Order: sequence, then C-alpha cells, then structure tokens
Amino acid sequence: MIPTPHIEVDKKGIIAETVIMPGDPLRAKFIAENFLENPVLFNKVRNMFGYTGTYKGKKISVMGSGMGMPSIGIYSYELFKFYDVQNIIRVGSCGAYSEEIDLYDVILVEESYSESTYAKVMAGIEDNILKPSEELNKKLEEAAKGLNIPVHKGRIHSSDVFYRQNFDDYKKIRDNYGCIAVEMESFALFANAQVTGKNAACLLTVSDSLVTMKATTSEERMKSFTNMMKIALEMA
Ligand code: HPA
Repeated sequence: MIPTPHIEVDKKGIIAETVIMPGDPLRAKFIAENFLENPVLFNKVRNMFGYTGTYKGKKISVMGSGMGMPSIGIYSYELFKFYDVQNIIRVGSCGAYSEEIDLYDVILVEESYSESTYAKVMAGIEDNILKPSEELNKKLEEAAKGLNIPVHKGRIHSSDVFYRQNFDDYKKIRDNYGCIAVEMESFALFANAQVTGKNAACLLTVSDSLVTMKATTSEERMKSFTNMMKIALEMA
C-alpha cells in the first residue's frame, strides 16, 4: 500500500489493532520504551513517533496524536481508515473544572461536549456531545478496578481554545453542560470512530485545575501518568 500523508507505513499489520494515543509523541516513546517488549518505531514523520510492541504477549501500538482536534483528527482517521486499526484509546491530560477533582486524578470520559465544528464539517454530524465506545469503557473500568486505581467518570469539555481571554468562561461551560474537566482532542477522536465504525475511548489525568490554579511540571506529568497507561495497557 501507499503510505498516508502523515504515517510512513506501507504495509498492513505493522500497526496493531489497538493503539494507545497520548498527545505528546515523547510520551509515546516513553510508554514504548518502559512498558512494551520489543518496541519497533514505525513512524517519525513530523516527529509523531509511533511504536508497535507487545504487552503481556499481546501486540499493541502507541502513537502521539499532537495537540488539538485538527491534529488528532488526521492521525486517528488515517489509523482507522487505512491501517485497519479497530481501537484507539487516548491517554491525555486535562484541566479540572471542579473542586472535587484533584491533580493526578484519572478520569474515564463518558461524554465529550464541544463547541467545535469538527464533527459537522467532517461528516455533517450535528451533535455537540459525542460518546466513546461503551464496550471499551466497560473494559477500561474493569481494568482500573483490577489495578485498584480509582477513576472519576463523567462528561468533559473538548475545547479548541487553550488561552481563553475571558478565563471565567469555563464556569459557563461547566454549569451549562456539566463538564468536569477540559481537554482538546476527544471530540474529534469520537467523531472519527463514529464515521469509520471503529471504537474509541479516552482516559485523562488531571494536570492542572482551573478552580484552584494548581498545576504540575512537565516532568511530574511524565511520571504521574503511569496509572492511566497501566489501565489502558491492561485493558488492551
Ligand atoms: N485546557 C485545555 N486542555 C488542557 C488543559 C486545560 O487547562 N489542561 C490539560 N489539557
């Protein structure tokens, strides 16, 4: 096959059926090198590293998505549509919208609300709330239980804008739509899964709080995200 514009793989079977997708390609490298056996790099176009290896004997891939819906929209579509990927589990970071949610807590996304036009422009999907795969979520929840890692479940805000000039706008979205946290990718990922008939899910670790303004350093983030990785890998 001809490689896609953004993934330099010219054969099926190089990328596993299930892909774990952090935003940061260096986090993909970290997961591959620390959790997978025999990881093999399959993509370095634009430094968007992707690896395939095995975890407890099962073939699995991990690849960066980049930040924001346009970026994850491109990578997840190419994986679903051209490389026969069946499942994508995003493992990302998020900002807390609620006081009950602490730094480093893990969220299993049940619904993603967005004011983004991604789904409408892409496929005429009018909904502004999209859902992940029920089956993947069930398995992720079971994996978390098995590992004794507590998870919050709920609706999150998938935003196109990180630097809102009216900071307090987040309160309106929290109050009107019941969102517990904010990230910038899941809505496009769920739209792509819907369009291609595949499965997607999203686990998030809280990296900052819009309520308390507490935040984590990038090094702390790299280390603390292992709980979420373990849930995703264990499920896969
Ligand atoms: N806003 C949007 N996306 C994010 C944030 C945030 O505060 N934190 C982590 N991802």
